[in-house]
Amino acid sequence: MRAGEAHEDLVDEMVPLARGELRILRPRDSEALLDEDAFEHEEFLPYWAELWPSGVALARDISNRSLRAARTVELGCGLGLPSLAAALAGGRVLATDWSPDAIEMTQRNATRSGATVDTLVCDWARPDALLARAPWDLVLGADLLYEHRNVDQLTDLLPRLVDGSGEILLADPGRVLAEEFLERAAGRFSIRTTGHGQVMIHRLLLLREG
Ligand SMILES: C[S@@+](CC[C@H](N)C(=O)[O-])C[C@H]1O[C@@H](n2cnc3c(N)ncnc32)[C@H](O)[C@@H]1O
Repeated sequence: MRAGEAHEDLVDEMVPLARGELRILRPRDSEALLDEDAFEHEEFLPYWAELWPSGVALARDISNRSLRAARTVELGCGLGLPSLAAALAGGRVLATDWSPDAIEMTQRNATRSGATVDTLVCDWARPDALLARAPWDLVLGADLLYEHRNVDQLTDLLPRLVDGSGEILLADPGRVLAEEFLERAAGRFSIRTTGHGQVMIHRLLLLREG
């Protein structure tokens, strides 16, 4: 199968949340999306095409909340599940990823679920569009800390996205690099961690300077 055809071979996955079930469309076989470019450029690796346990746990957590028009951004949204849950919980949501394919699938998933979600292709290495709209009330990220580069970029970026009243929620399946990130983030944030089965959700609040 060519990678292009794999984009159209889709399946629906039902995800039960506090506010009812969400139907998430995803490629049936994410490995079929690999092509030669993908091996040469990490941004083309199809990690976006799977529904990772961290995304499900974060969406479940969010769907128990009432977001009251909170200005919310999701980083590395993949198929968009936490963004959809945040929009349905009342947030004003911008879903972002560096993969245009992820953003297209997130838009399709939002339309199908009746959620209003803005979308943007954005790389953490070039975050001007995110910084221009900061500070955010709520920043979401699920399973983002799997490369050293990601740790460096998010250590630099996250404190610039919120002010003293903003909240960052990072869901992670216990990756070693998440530990490294948390050690580095401890100087800038107060961090509270809760367990959700095999996934941890880290809640970060910016510490006041001085
Ligand atoms: C392991 S996947 C998790 C996807 C989704 N959050 C979930 O939990 O199902 C990591 C996501 O981060 C995105 N990503 C990786 N590096 C990125 C970067 N530098 N800028 C923006 N997005 C990035 C990938 O495209 C992918 O969608």
